[in-house]
Amino acid sequence: MASTASMQVLVASNRGPVSYEVREDGSLAARRGGGGLVSGLSAIGPDAGSLWVCSALSDGDREAVRRSHGGRRLSVDATGGQHVRMLDIDETVHSDAYNGIANSVLWFVNHMLYQTPLEPVFDAEFRRQWASYEAYNRAFAEALAEEAAEGASVVVQDYHLCLVPGMLRALRPDVKIGHFSHTPWAPPDYFRMLPQDIREQLLLGMLGADRLGFLTHRWSAAFAACVRDTIVEAVPRLAQSGVPEAFQYVPDWKGPGHRTWLGVHGLGADADFLRRRAHEPDVAERMAALRAEIGGDAGSPRRTIVRVDRTELSKNIVRGLLAYRQLLEDRPEWRERVVHVAFAYPSRQDLAVYRDYTAEVQRVADDINATYGTPTWTPVVLHVKDDFARSLAAYRLADVALVNPIRDGMNLVAKEIPVVSDEGCALVLSREAGAYEELGEDAIAVNPYDVIETARALEEALNMAPGERAERTKRLAAAATALPPAQWFLDQLNALNG
Ligand code: F6P
Repeated sequence: MASTASMQVLVASNRGPVSYEVREDGSLAARRGGGGLVSGLSAIGPDAGSLWVCSALSDGDREAVRRSHGGRRLSVDATGGQHVRMLDIDETVHSDAYNGIANSVLWFVNHMLYQTPLEPVFDAEFRRQWASYEAYNRAFAEALAEEAAEGASVVVQDYHLCLVPGMLRALRPDVKIGHFSHTPWAPPDYFRMLPQDIREQLLLGMLGADRLGFLTHRWSAAFAACVRDTIVEAVPRLAQSGVPEAFQYVPDWKGPGHRTWLGVHGLGADADFLRRRAHEPDVAERMAALRAEIGGDAGSPRRTIVRVDRTELSKNIVRGLLAYRQLLEDRPEWRERVVHVAFAYPSRQDLAVYRDYTAEVQRVADDINATYGTPTWTPVVLHVKDDFARSLAAYRLADVALVNPIRDGMNLVAKEIPVVSDEGCALVLSREAGAYEELGEDAIAVNPYDVIETARALEEALNMAPGERAERTKRLAAAATALPPAQWFLDQLNALNG
């Protein structure tokens, strides 16, 4: 069937570029987000015929959909000119798909977060939620099929939408389909935890794409290994082609099939935006306030170890605090001379395990302050309310950046701090962060589980000579900005079309 739709470039993601709140007077307040996709779509320009398909995530979003043009398009005034179609998927279906499957199963598998003696349990409740995940993916596939012009390019984002490429291909074999994973991918032994039919569905769903993008070679190789492990042996309808990074996928036994190419695009920091934004007046205000909290003499200001994260299980904030405590214990000469500035912003608070983790971060920080603090020195300055200007202020003040995730797709904070820091900062970086592939040489690498090694790394970072720190920061910033967001997006589009 020839399409009469007009959109040439379509992006699909769970979280869209805008969110809404209903004000007390009943009007809607829109809040625009940032990030790689927003820059990417603005880079292709307003006339390119681009559409962002996303999900309504809150009551405000649902209200915005109700007030939009027949549920098809949000007002472009609120989106900065970007055409956005927000899907008002049934709230229970969305919650099962997002909280139940995407964030409690797929996120846990890809980040290897389960405490395996007791979890996961794939029972009837899991099957019920999986049906919602299928319905939610189908809603996206149908909206994309309806909107895409003949031969359009569709780039689907992340683990929320693994089934979309396969579903969309069945509906619209003419469009070019890309999928990009912003997370790590699990190694086969861990992925094997999932029931066999679910593994097949996930991988075959992804292989419906022409091109699958990953943040690092490590995650791309893990995906390829899972395909070989799960499907090649079990279902003899997928044969690896002679090309190492492509799979020949025959969607049904009779069809000609297609190749799915694997590619790596290491999303970088947006240097121009960050440097400009970090020198706006609200950031200067936050710096003054932070300096007052950090304290110390004007002549010898206290040193800072900075971390900025969502309060996310994989970010390893608690072990970061334990490593800092170990440093204060082992090296008392640092007491009163250093402050750990830790920003842990709320995330996924619908899930009990995230609420418990947030409480544990607060408890350990309080405990360090109670044990080591003095009337004039608070060892940990913890903030839990999201404030981008304050994050940039902390980036600028950082002497040491602590980025120690258990496992992370990339970790943009590791890339942003060296770009913004005023005096240069030493980067303590987990080997398990995707960013390690590009920044490892100039960072101090740590095993995220080893708090003693991390404490030593923090000390080494604090003691790094200013000259070396500045040199390393320069190299880190260059590596961190090698692929700015707009280019990252355009590269994927070009590769998809090429
Ligand atoms: O890392 C994957 C990701 O989807 C990011 O793209 C995003 O910043 C983060 O997780 C936040 O997720 P959520 O939409 O659940 O808050």
